[in-house]
Amino acid sequence: MRLAYDLIGSRETGAVAVVEVPEGADPMEVAEEIMRRHPQVKSVLRKAGGREGAYRTRPLEVIAGSNETEVVHREHGYRLKLDPRLVYFSPREATERQIVSELCRDGELILLMFAGVGPYAIAIARRRDAQVVGVEVNPVAVRYFRENVRINGLGWKVFPIEGDVAYVAPAMSGRFDRILMPLPLGAYSYVRYALAALAGGRGFVHFYYWGGSNALREAEDLFRREALSLGLEAKSIGHRIVSSYAPRVSKMRIDFSVRPAPLK
Ligand SMILES: C[S@@+](CC[C@H](N)C(=O)[O-])C[C@H]1O[C@@H](n2cnc3c(N)ncnc32)[C@H](O)[C@@H]1O
Repeated sequence: MRLAYDLIGSRETGAVAVVEVPEGADPMEVAEEIMRRHPQVKSVLRKAGGREGAYRTRPLEVIAGSNETEVVHREHGYRLKLDPRLVYFSPREATERQIVSELCRDGELILLMFAGVGPYAIAIARRRDAQVVGVEVNPVAVRYFRENVRINGLGWKVFPIEGDVAYVAPAMSGRFDRILMPLPLGAYSYVRYALAALAGGRGFVHFYYWGGSNALREAEDLFRREALSLGLEAKSIGHRIVSSYAPRVSKMRIDFSVRPAPLK
C-alpha cells in the first residue's frame, strides 16, 4: 500500500503517525500497516481537514492506538515535546531549521515571530552563540515552547513570550539583529513590525511566503514597499522553496538584508 504519513516522536518515548487516508482505503488497514512498519507508533491520526485558524492546527482523528497523543520528537540532537492535535508542528521542516540556523551568526539577538513550540529557536540556540526571543499566541504551544527550552537546557539563550506579534513586537522595537517570520500564509501583515524591530533599521529578515508561480516577485515587491514606507532599503539576498504543494504552489523563504535608505 502506498501511504503518505509523518512520524512525530521517537523510539524512546513513542511516536504518532499523521496520515492522509487514501480515498477508498480502509482506515483500520492503513493504521495497522503503519503500526506494523513502525513499532514505536502508539497512535495513528488521520488528517480530517486542512490547517485552520490563527493557531494553524488541523483536525486530527485518532483511528488506532492510544488517545494520549503527546510525544517527544527528536531531530538533529534536540528534543521537542508537543501534541500535534493542539499545536502546529511539521517534522518535514527539520532541514529548513538547520539551514536557517546556519544563516544566523554568533552574538546576534534574534526575534522569532510565530514561534510555535520553539523548533527554530532551539535549532538556532544549539548551533549559535545567539539569543532568541520567541513570540507565540497559542497558549498551549507556549507551554510546550517553555518546556522545550527547559529540556534542552537553553534557558539562558531562548526566551519565550506569549502574545500576539502585533502587540508584543512594537514593545521591543529597535533591538534585534535578525528576524524570522515563519508564517507563510500571513507573515506579510506583520512586515512593518519586523522592520521596526531591527536595531537602527539594519539587519536580516527571513520572510516566509506562500504563493503561485509569481510568489518570489510578489513577496519581494511587498517587502521592499513596506521597507521604503519606513525609510528603509530591503535587498533580497537569497530564497529557498521550503515545500511544494501543487504544481507551481509553494511555500518559500526569502532572505532580506535591510538598512536605512540612502538619502537621495
Ligand atoms: C506555521 S506555524 C509555525 C510554528 C513554528 N515556527 C514551527 O515552525 O513549528 C505559525 C505559528 O504562529 C502562531 N501565530 C499565528 N498568528 C500569530 C500572531 N499574530 N502572533 C503570534 N503568534 C502567532 C500560530 O499559533 C502558530 O503556532
